[in-house]
Amino acid sequence: MGCIHIALAKGRILRDMLPLLATAGIVPREDPATSRKLVLDTGDESMRLVVVRAADVPTYVQFGAADLGVVGKDVLMEHGGEGLAEPLDLGLARCRMMVAEPRQLAQQDDPSSWRRLRIATKYPNVTRRHFAAKGVQTEIIKLYGSMELAPLVGLADRIVDLVDTGGTLRANDLVEVEHIADISARLVVNCAALHMKSSRLHAIIAQLEQVVEK
Ligand code: ATP
Ligand code: PRP
Repeated sequence: MGCIHIALAKGRILRDMLPLLATAGIVPREDPATSRKLVLDTGDESMRLVVVRAADVPTYVQFGAADLGVVGKDVLMEHGGEGLAEPLDLGLARCRMMVAEPRQLAQQDDPSSWRRLRIATKYPNVTRRHFAAKGVQTEIIKLYGSMELAPLVGLADRIVDLVDTGGTLRANDLVEVEHIADISARLVVNCAALHMKSSRLHAIIAQLEQVVEK
């Protein structure tokens, strides 16, 4: 019987997911926060955790290098989700994807009159799709983090970024002007594996479903 691999995004998702996995009986033998190992054995020898960058989780699962994965909906939307099924909303790492701009600009801005925007974001595909659907042209500047800086130094007028408490926007005198999507961590599964390892994967999905509902 082959081993089941679960890909987890390191950082916030790994931290929030470990207690949930433990409740479902899946416990790594080493602490992922301190271990430098990228493949972690668990108490169940037929199950391993694979710790990767958030943006890489869909790729590992899409190509079957991991059977299951846990990743933010933002990352999934940006990836496109090809070859992946998304059986479960884990309800972790909740936030929202928003368009934001400087408070001063917002005072005389009307989103319904937007025709062409210059936007800095980590999510070029989502941003392009969102605005194309509204007939708004976009010039997108791809960044890898700290999007909030872009309008402050004239790199872009607006940003598409994640917002939770709103603290980062407030600290940088930015305001939310349009909602794109509600975000939370999702369980994803490789579509082919779901057929080939159907009973084991469905058992794990059911196990996690139970602890999420609690
Ligand atoms: P990397 O460090 O690999 O660049 P990352 O910075 O996106 O990835 P995290 O900050 O740990 O990694 O975020 C992981 C996921 O958690 C995101 O994809 C998103 O779904 C969610 N998330 C991000 N920021 C917040 C936040 N402030 N509050 C709640 N959830 C968040
Ligand atoms: C995320 C996001 C925002 C911030 C929003 O960044 O990109 O900057 O959280 O949260 P808030 O509304 O509660 O302030 P994170 O802290 O993960 O930093 P990173 O993007 O550099 O990883």
